[in-house]
Amino acid sequence: MRLTKLEFLAMNNPLRRYVQRQLEFRLFQQMGLTGTGKRILEIGCGSGYGAKLLSRLSPARYVGIDLMPEQIELTRRIDLPNAEFLVMDATDLSDFEDESIDYVVVFGILHHIPAWRTALSEIQRVLVPGGRLFVEEPDRVLVGFVDRWFSWHVPEAGFTLDEFETGMMDHGLEILDSREYPLFHSYCAVKPG
Ligand SMILES: C[S@@+](CC[C@H](N)C(=O)[O-])C[C@H]1O[C@@H](n2cnc3c(N)ncnc32)[C@H](O)[C@@H]1O
Repeated sequence: MRLTKLEFLAMNNPLRRYVQRQLEFRLFQQMGLTGTGKRILEIGCGSGYGAKLLSRLSPARYVGIDLMPEQIELTRRIDLPNAEFLVMDATDLSDFEDESIDYVVVFGILHHIPAWRTALSEIQRVLVPGGRLFVEEPDRVLVGFVDRWFSWHVPEAGFTLDEFETGMMDHGLEILDSREYPLFHSYCAVKPG
């Protein structure tokens, strides 16, 4: 789902980058987003700040995908080794072979996608056995609250965090660790292998 103008601005500013760096990325690191030479896929990479954070891992390959060409256009000014950015829908990752990615990283995107279960299925497919999904998502209640104030989201999008956890397990992803704030959780899940 495309962002509204307001959310686009909210996602592309220094405060958002500060929170992503100091809180969200650190939680993923605490849960095992470490090591060098990994093949990393970031879903919903936006304007590419996640790519800069993930470049600290010196990935063998980094691909950032986003549905919005405007976001990918903003990544053109980023020059990182082994990195590429593509306009792509998370529900169709057919450009990626089965079991070709070590880490999939998602900074709060799947609640934007009505077919989020299809995206989970695609993530599971592209991960190598033993590969990890690092994902953070808000509960539908939080999404609905923000929507009432800022009209950011289509209200029918999203899920409860219980539904999301069940969805991961239903799609063959085992939750290894989580950091749980009220209505907002970060997870590390593995594709068993
Ligand atoms: C809330 S923004 C987050 C951007 C960035 N990752 C961040 O944390 O600041 C959500 C991003 O997901 C993208 N997106 C929404 N639906 C998508 C889909 N089906 N496939 C890929 N990207 C999608 C949007 O275009 C947007 O850039």
